[in-house]
Amino acid sequence: MIRTALTRTFGLAAPVVGAPMAGVAGGALARAVSLGGGLGMIGVGNAATPGFVAEEAAVPAADGLPFGIGLMAWALEERPELLDAAIAARPTLVGVSFGDPAPAVARLHEAGIAVASQVNTADDARRAQAAGVDLLVVQGTEAGGHTGHRAMLPLLQEVLVLADRPVLAAGGIATGAGVAAALVAGAAGVWIGTPLLACPEALNSPAARARVCAATGEDTVLTRAFDVAQGLAWPERWPGRALANDFSREWHGREDELTAEPDAARRVVEARRTGDLSAAPLYAGESVGLVTGERPAADVVRELAAGAERALRAAADLLA
Ligand SMILES: Cc1cc2nc3c(=O)[nH]c(=O)nc-3n(C[C@H](O)[C@H](O)[C@H](O)COP(=O)(O)O)c2cc1C
Repeated sequence: MIRTALTRTFGLAAPVVGAPMAGVAGGALARAVSLGGGLGMIGVGNAATPGFVAEEAAVPAADGLPFGIGLMAWALEERPELLDAAIAARPTLVGVSFGDPAPAVARLHEAGIAVASQVNTADDARRAQAAGVDLLVVQGTEAGGHTGHRAMLPLLQEVLVLADRPVLAAGGIATGAGVAAALVAGAAGVWIGTPLLACPEALNSPAARARVCAATGEDTVLTRAFDVAQGLAWPERWPGRALANDFSREWHGREDELTAEPDAARRVVEARRTGDLSAAPLYAGESVGLVTGERPAADVVRELAAGAERALRAAADLLA
């Protein structure tokens, strides 16, 4: 069994956090990740309702399992009720990412809830640390969903030099050996999203899961096209990594023109409604080529932990 600051703090059997993924990670996926020994999180998008947060949180809570909730800092300015709902759901951990976590930290700590924040630069890490977050999550540009521009490993090493608290690695990790690599580098655990995109407990559609299973690591694009088309208020510094599709091939790199194209905007909104993957965003990271079949989330977590243990033992054999 692997023991780290993450597993000790939250009483986990595996040093694995299931990333909060809006539209994919609801209560059932969070529950399944926690059943597998990790810490499952629920993703709360900017358009989610407090009712959604309460309903999804009730799923892992009904079994007494630990779970987390992930919020978007930039959205909380307009939607403070999402922070209220997260606190009321009594999770173990709340992630406040993509923006300044500081305004939320004191309230979460008063409620006895630990705080994580994904960071995309060394300055982000300094700010999150100064704000008092308990866990720094280094999110590399390899990651699926909205992310920054720095690669995970160099940023992880940089953040570990300046951090005085546990650091997790996010982005591109999808095998036990990958988990072991992050731990050996100094991370207290991993925060995985893409490896959970083909789990039957997810909120995504069977067609989306099939597309994920068919995709290779070369099939992703880091783009603002989907956000601009939908008029979403995502700050520019966080584009989204998604599987390339007809829409991104047409509009990626031409985002400035998109604002004047209401038809293109309608196309994305309609595609999301109907599940048309040629124009709807399907967020996934560069490790997507390693996700080749549907698998229960608990199995994914258990296999990552067991594989990491094997890899760590094999690594020790490298020593003379
Ligand atoms: C479909 C999808 C949705 C995501 N939604 C969120 C979100 O709502 N909040 C958040 O903090 N991170 C979100 N992320 C980013 C994840 O928290 C995490 O950084 C990422 O999945 C880790 O990299 P990986 O995908 O390579 O495992 C999302 C990622 C994906 C793939």
